[in-house]
Amino acid sequence: MTDVVAAAFAALRAHAQSLVGRRTLDLFAQDPNRFAEFSVALDDDFLFDFSKHKLTGETLSLLRRLAEARGLEARRDALFAGDAINITENRAAMHMALRDLSGRPIRVGQENVRQMVETEREKVYRFARAVRDGEARGATGHSFTDVVNIGIGGSDLGPAMATRALSPYRGEGPQAHFVSNVDGADLADTLAALDLARTLFIVSSKTFTTQETMANAASARARIVAALGERAVEKHFAAVSTRLDKVVEFGVDPSRVFGFWDWVGGRYSLWSSIGLALAIFIGPDHFTAFLQGGQDIDEHFRDAPFAKNIPILMGMLGVWHRNIKARGAHAVIPYDQRLSRFPAYLQQLDMESNGKAVTRSGAQVDEATGPVIFGEPGTNGQHAFFQLLHQGVDVIPIDFLVAAQPTAADAHHHALLFSNCLAQSEAFMRGRTLAEAQAQLRAAGMNEEEIDELAPHKVFSGDRPSSVFLYKSLDPRTLGRLVALYEHKVFVQAAIWDINPFDQWGVELGKELANRLSPIVADAQSSTAELDGSTAGLIAWRRAQIA
Ligand code: F6P
Repeated sequence: MTDVVAAAFAALRAHAQSLVGRRTLDLFAQDPNRFAEFSVALDDDFLFDFSKHKLTGETLSLLRRLAEARGLEARRDALFAGDAINITENRAAMHMALRDLSGRPIRVGQENVRQMVETEREKVYRFARAVRDGEARGATGHSFTDVVNIGIGGSDLGPAMATRALSPYRGEGPQAHFVSNVDGADLADTLAALDLARTLFIVSSKTFTTQETMANAASARARIVAALGERAVEKHFAAVSTRLDKVVEFGVDPSRVFGFWDWVGGRYSLWSSIGLALAIFIGPDHFTAFLQGGQDIDEHFRDAPFAKNIPILMGMLGVWHRNIKARGAHAVIPYDQRLSRFPAYLQQLDMESNGKAVTRSGAQVDEATGPVIFGEPGTNGQHAFFQLLHQGVDVIPIDFLVAAQPTAADAHHHALLFSNCLAQSEAFMRGRTLAEAQAQLRAAGMNEEEIDELAPHKVFSGDRPSSVFLYKSLDPRTLGRLVALYEHKVFVQAAIWDINPFDQWGVELGKELANRLSPIVADAQSSTAELDGSTAGLIAWRRAQIA
């Protein structure tokens, strides 16, 4: 860490001390403009409110100083220039190229990739239309009523999250299903209710080597062959990958193979052909609106000034909580049932990107990096884990997401949903003092002895920070904006922590060991002598159960 960076962190820590004892509510009382000052509107249909974090204008100035010391602007320029910023894999991270609808050249290294991006997208759109219109048919001449995406991680979570989020945009298209887990129950349960003669499988895998996806694809293929014959495979399978050579070996008709490029990371690939299941589900026009939402945020991230730049603010607020306040988790709570998979999607995006302990140059980091990300939709979360968020010993910052308008839902329900969202955000900030708790119990007619016993249990510290993302409605463009905002937030934090957010070596060791163990598990006669005592003992116990 350079002296300038160390000084910027030290200044933030000293400043945090100066805020001890002040209440967020007092900051509102002292500044009638606080909401306007600490919120950002995008056009007239998206609002980011971060005024309930206990911070001041000085906090933002000091965070800005840290961002400058870490060269955030130069890193952002390198990202958009298509430089090979994923240094451990020597690749660019140019997912923004996939949603750039401007018509201008897009550079990845020395190459202008616009033409090939548009050609591949057009191919995806043609196929999506053919499936939706019933022009593409199965081996028995039936149109497809169901599409099953087989993939995992970035080849699953994006389309799975987005099809749920955008279900009102399906129209007459087929239903979408997602099989990811190598547990055979996933495929079996998904297929149980489907008619194979009307089912299209999409095998999605960037590398086309992932164990889970290859096992599920082989089983799905066997099911099709058993039900409809070998020749049905080419009619019932499509594939998405960067390894077109491997797809051909699997036997997919080349006209149904869709590519993308190694400069698109798995967890950033929803914008690419990996979005095929989504494009079929919502149709090309809505998919383009989704891309447009992503492009809106790219422009905003490049052009908006620091204090009004939403992904920069999201990232820097996270740095404030993680590094200055030592908060190890971050909750994302959509008050929007259709965003139920959004927290899971963000877990991969954030934790696979920023779960790193070495800097770009390979040295140990000297500040904490990515927090644990978790969440569930509200109001359900309120009746599950919110107790800990309100009164637990750890303070956990929260992102609330909510629509101003319901999407094809009952207005009365939406009013209740919306009130709950704002009430929770307010409660986390406001809290309840001991004196307030005592007064409440006194008003309820309790005697002083009872009050002394009960009141401490009814105290809430308050000053628990939350942001609110308020959007007009959950349409494709809004979803594109939300996804791109979080992508850039993760990038901003990686820049501050000087880590590479675009590799994921940590996933490798488990994969290697699974490949080593699977033949030993499959063959009851094989020796376990080379294994550690626990692994050998667990395998022996299983062998006894299934003997
Ligand atoms: O879980 C590790 C990972 O490499 C993710 O980064 C990726 O999204 C996922 O596996 C699936 O990989 P593929 O698309 O190559 O099958």
